[in-house]
Order: sequence, then structure tokens, then C-alpha cells
Amino acid sequence: MTTPEQNEYLTRTGPGTAMGNLFRCYWLPALMAEELAEPDCAPVRVKLLSEPLIAFRDSDGRLGLIDEFCAHRGVSLWFGRNEESGLRCPYHGWKYDVTGQCVEVPSESVESGFCAKMKLKSYPLVERGGILWAYMGPPETQPALPEFEVAMVGPRQRFLSKRLQQNNYLQAMEGGIDSSHVSFLHRGALKTDPLLKNAQRSVQYNLQDFQVKFEVVESDGGLLIGARRNAENGHHYWRITQWVMPYFTAIPPRGDYSVGGHFWVPIDDESCWTWSYNYHPTHDIGEDEIKAMKAGHGIHVELIPGTFIPVKNVDNDYLMDRSAQKSGASFSGIDGVAIQDSSLQESMGPIQDRTRENLVSTDNGIILARKRLRKAAQSLQQGILPPGVQPASQSVRSAALVLPPDAVFKEAAKEALIARPGVPLTTI
Ligand code: FES
Ligand SMILES: [Fe+2]
Repeated sequence: MTTPEQNEYLTRTGPGTAMGNLFRCYWLPALMAEELAEPDCAPVRVKLLSEPLIAFRDSDGRLGLIDEFCAHRGVSLWFGRNEESGLRCPYHGWKYDVTGQCVEVPSESVESGFCAKMKLKSYPLVERGGILWAYMGPPETQPALPEFEVAMVGPRQRFLSKRLQQNNYLQAMEGGIDSSHVSFLHRGALKTDPLLKNAQRSVQYNLQDFQVKFEVVESDGGLLIGARRNAENGHHYWRITQWVMPYFTAIPPRGDYSVGGHFWVPIDDESCWTWSYNYHPTHDIGEDEIKAMKAGHGIHVELIPGTFIPVKNVDNDYLMDRSAQKSGASFSGIDGVAIQDSSLQESMGPIQDRTRENLVSTDNGIILARKRLRKAAQSLQQGILPPGVQPASQSVRSAALVLPPDAVFKEAAKEALIARPGVPLTTI
């Protein structure tokens, strides 16, 4: 049973909270690289872990992530002029560089030294793999740059999207850890999604055996969630999901399609960014696949142009189709895997009340994930850095394979679960 205190502990990530301190140990996906595409482009509002910030790329291409509000009288620097190697507040002309240092206060003389004393909070922001990553923790524990495989492959080998989700990060991420819902919620999509049509062997395993057995074991950085279904001749079809603390999941691949997964990043306690990625470790993603993902198939979603808000959202009841629900074309009546997930996760309320839930054996993954998060946050108070910070623990893969009945999945799939440049995925 989850107590109200435990629920608070796991879901609050603002400054000074235990889980907030934990998230501040990692590089966080903050923006798509294309959001700051060129020097002196428009600054972007970025709220992360309940901190309002502004990101910008200065005239020299350097990236900055600084306090949203001007040190003078609190104007939002989103209105700022991005020019001549800095962001200038349009109210009285104070100007800041990418480190948040004030470099000009037009009303004061340079000799007064006033300007040098003004500095806004700032965090490192770096580009890797099409993502701008922010580090919001203490400088002395800043880790090496992230090495999730999706960020290490060439730009044509990956596809990234992100969407706004209006609920706490944890209930969204728990959807990524709980793969038992796939056989129900995504049943219709398993048959119709264009990104699955050439992976019917794996789909058939999913559709034939609903009595999926889960085995969850700890990995260096988080958890391995093994889902076992019956295959031919007494063998088992295993789908192995990776969870790397505190925000990453890798979905097991299907057929020769690119492999997908998510990052869940708290905006504040009641909303999060759901990042969705696909990549191929050994070759470019095909045109057809890219086209389908751009159209919102697979785990991606159609967005309102110019925003990261899904077209199907709470304001239009996610375009629920009761006749599709009745006919079984869609198990929930909502179209599209991503919106099937977010519609139900948002329906739990901004922060799910976990004191009222009743967990069953298929929830073992989320039970262990909560435990690991809580333990890591507690150990951090003793100065112990959490799992998942080291790049080696991020260099992992999901896998889908058939194993003999007596195989221990963690051992039998050991090699398949490590990301190695140039080595194909293990997939059925
Ligand atoms: S409020 Fe920004 S310069 Fe005055
Ligand atoms: Fe899902």
C-alpha cells in the first residue's frame, strides 16, 4: 500500500524535494535541437523540474539555459532580444550572456561595478544526438554526457518527437514500465499500425497469449522487465524492456523496424514531456517509416502545428470513437498508441492518488521501479550518487527473442541487451 507521504515523495520534483534532487543528478532532455536551430534565433521558454527557464543560442552558437526572469524587475526574458552574443531584456536593456552573467546595464556606469554583480541562475545545456540536454544539479557532481544509443547514432538513423502530457511524470513512466497493457489497450493498433505490418510473427505471440508472465530483475542503471509468452514447441517468446533511472525506457523491437522508447521528463508536478524516439543501430531509417512516424503512427503523435500539444487531447476527448470501441477496431476507442496511453494516464488526474490503487502481479515492474527511485533518493542524502548516472549504464538495448523453456532471460539475452555500435538489434 502506498501512503500519501510515499506518493508525495515519489511525485514532487521541484527544488529542494528528495525526488527533485535525484533528477538533478542526471542530464535531462530539455529541448529538441531544432528548437534552437541557429545563432540568435528566438529564445524558448523551458520549464523543468518546476523551474521556469529560458533557453537561447547566442550569436556565436553557444547554448544558454538561464532563469526566465530579468534580475532588474522580473520581466520574462522570453521577450528578450537575442543579439550580439547575449539576451537583452526589452524593458530597460539589461543584457545577459549564456552563463547568466549580466554584461550590460545601460543606466549604470561600468566603473560602478554594478553590472558585474548581477548574475542569473544558469545551467549547462549541450547538444547530443538531436537533443539539448540540461544538467541542473551541483557542478561538482556533473556526470559525463549521456550515452543512450539513440543519442549516439547518426541523424538519419533516428527519429525524435516530444509531446506535452498533462500529468505527473511518474504515472506516465509507469505506463512505459507496465507492458501488460499492450495486449489490451493497444490490441487494435497491433493489427493496424503501419509500423507493425511487417512484424506479424511478434504480434501473433502478443495476441495469442494474454496470460503474460513477468520477471523483473535489477540492472546496473534500473530494471530489466521480461515479459514471457508461449511460443512454438514449449519455447517462450520474451520481450525485454529496459528502464534506466530516472526517466528512460526502451520498448522491445518488432521485426526489422527501428526500435523505440521514451524519456519522461517532469515539467512541473502536474505535467511532463513525453519524448518518443526510434532508431536503427546499423542503418538509416527508411523513408516509409519516417513518413508514418511523422503522421503520428507507432509511438509518435500528430501535433497541433507550431506546438508540442497533441491534436487529440483532453479538450476534444481525444476524439474518442465509441463505434470503434464497440466493434473492437480499437480497444479503448482512441486512435493511436501514444494517445491511447496519454488519454488514460491523464485521466488518472494530475497526480495519481496511489493510496487507492490495488496492484497485481503484472505491476511488479512499477513496484520495483518506485522502490529503486525511493532508495536512490534516500541514498543521495548520504552523498551516494544514484544508478543510471554513468554512461555505461545507459548503453543498453531492449530485445525480443524466443528462448528455450529453462532459459534464465537475463543470462540468455545478456549480449542482446548491451548497445554495441554496428551490431544489429535482437528482434523477432
Ligand atoms: S526589467 Fe529587465 S531591464 Fe528592467
Ligand atoms: Fe502503451
